[in-house]
Amino acid sequence: MWDIRVTDETVSTNDDAMAIARSGGPSRTVCVARRQTGGHGRFDRVWFSPAGKGLYCSVILRPSLPAEHFGLLSFCAATAMAETVRAEIKWPNDIIMNGRKICGILSSWGYDRNSEAFAVIGSGLNILAGSYPPELAEKAACLEDFGMDEPWDAILSRYLPLLESSVQELETRGFAEVRRRLEERCVILGKPVLVSGGQQAEGLAEGIGPQGELLVRLSSGSLVSVTCGDVSVRGVNGYV
Ligand code: BTN
Repeated sequence: MWDIRVTDETVSTNDDAMAIARSGGPSRTVCVARRQTGGHGRFDRVWFSPAGKGLYCSVILRPSLPAEHFGLLSFCAATAMAETVRAEIKWPNDIIMNGRKICGILSSWGYDRNSEAFAVIGSGLNILAGSYPPELAEKAACLEDFGMDEPWDAILSRYLPLLESSVQELETRGFAEVRRRLEERCVILGKPVLVSGGQQAEGLAEGIGPQGELLVRLSSGSLVSVTCGDVSVRGVNGYV
């Protein structure tokens, strides 16, 4: 059973879920808000979260995994969300439709007051027009742009079981199957990419490594493992 806690407005569902988890809140608690006033994403970027336009949710998990593997949970979430809305993935965990981002995933983890480890997996999914700011129109999109909008609760009720089965797969059999599903949907594989932000690399995105890292073949022929960064794909007008 999921404990889904819906609120009209909050600063950030990730902050709420972190606070609940730190004070011992159980696995499968889900914080949802219709609007976030301080939604945030990777690299501390703002996540635009206007009322009733998207799905803003954060899930507390306490998986039976060594804490050093908690980073792989964001790949479970990315594959689950991509399967939920039938979209693609841009490594590490952006959900993409027609080359534009419709959903971002932000995962965090920590220890509660009993020293038990927990993870919080936040997802911001653009559903309706107005869910992303107009200045991002070239890079962002929403389900409505593709005639695929649905109520947030219908999407959440498909996403949570898929997330759960992905996490169970990771717990019981390791990363191999989640990685296979990630590679299957990962739009950048086989393409020339530029990685910036975290690490820097320019080359051909060849695959996903055993720890979820992006494997990039440089022009020198060597293969580098990228664990953190933003990826742009080279098109006719340069990297986008
Ligand atoms: C990213 O692409 O940088 C990740 C964006 C994650 C946004 C979601 S919205 C729900 C949850 N609450 C937050 O403050 N962030 C995540």
